[in-house]
Amino acid sequence: MSEQSARIAVGAEPSMLPSIRWDEPPEGPVLALLDQTRLPGEETERVCTDVPALVRAIRELAVRGAPLLGIAGAYGVALAAVRGYDVEDAAEQLAGARPTAVNLGYGVRRARDAYRAALEADADLARAAAAALAEARALHREDAEASARMAAFGLSLLDELLPGGGHRILTHCNTGALVSGGEGTAFAVALSAHRVGRLRRLWVDETRPLLQGARLTAYEAARSGMAYTVLTDNAAGSLFAAGEVDAVLIGADRIAADGSVANKVGSYPLAVLAKYHHVPFVVVAPTTTVDLDTPDGAAIEVEQRPGQEVTELTAPQAAVAGAEKGGGVPVAPLGSQAYNPAFDITPPELVTAVVTERGVLSPVTRDGIAQLCVRSRQG
Ligand code: MRU
Repeated sequence: MSEQSARIAVGAEPSMLPSIRWDEPPEGPVLALLDQTRLPGEETERVCTDVPALVRAIRELAVRGAPLLGIAGAYGVALAAVRGYDVEDAAEQLAGARPTAVNLGYGVRRARDAYRAALEADADLARAAAAALAEARALHREDAEASARMAAFGLSLLDELLPGGGHRILTHCNTGALVSGGEGTAFAVALSAHRVGRLRRLWVDETRPLLQGARLTAYEAARSGMAYTVLTDNAAGSLFAAGEVDAVLIGADRIAADGSVANKVGSYPLAVLAKYHHVPFVVVAPTTTVDLDTPDGAAIEVEQRPGQEVTELTAPQAAVAGAEKGGGVPVAPLGSQAYNPAFDITPPELVTAVVTERGVLSPVTRDGIAQLCVRSRQG
């Protein structure tokens, strides 16, 4: 069988979410994923023994979020190599599983290139597979380090932007340990503020239609002991109008060369609201999310997801509602068309700052993005 599920015990430590785990049981190596379609109700691991199972897990969002997709892609290549499958084909399948988060292709390429380089240096297949696995592990570690650095830079930026302390931060989608080798991107900054007593409240957008905010960010906030409140996405406007938001912190799936930011659909309206209300709009992402080959926002491919995610309560919402997984509950007349882009694009002029593991870029300009990447390659 190419995938199995098992309930697991998740430790209480906020950062210790086993989002992804390479394991080598006697039956052969596997990639175990904390199944995000089942959270927060069930802490279940989905165990993938081959690449098609991992591609399914990526498409169904059992594993998701830009940095974690990169890590999963790299381990997926290693899985193919160690199990003796066609690595080039596996790399192609994995890189094409979802189009928007640039990290997925980046992680896949890193492991595949390590495999290719080992073969070119006359390694046998086992050694080449070991090189791919070592590269996946390196990416996993690097992402944890990047997360810690972003949290520190982001906290200093918040203190600079909001000298009064007692931050009320609005966030969208899910950007914590569930999407990272470490404690995440935007959520890691909020967590740092919480740990030093400077977070008054985390406002959590529910994030329609798949509820990454209500299901996953609220789950992480609760585990961390933060004061948090979930709101429907369309309540954000009145929250700004009431003066209840000091800053918006979000992650990114791809940052184009001009500084345009692709992130979960609903991010762009928050940026417009933030501009109108003079509230900082801050994007937190590792430099692996910057794509200099994508010149601007218009060139970013935005994933279009099935309309049923909008017109029906399907998994994972159905799982939340206690319905059988996969059982869709219609909320619109049968046959209704639906517009369901997974991401939207925020232009750089609406972004106050981009926080990376290399430092903070503000204002966000094409030159600044290029310099960040030069620094990143030198560093
Ligand atoms: O469709 P998803 O759940 O994979 O979308 C994830 C997001 O949009 C996150 O906000 C983004 O990947 C940044 S997370 C570090």
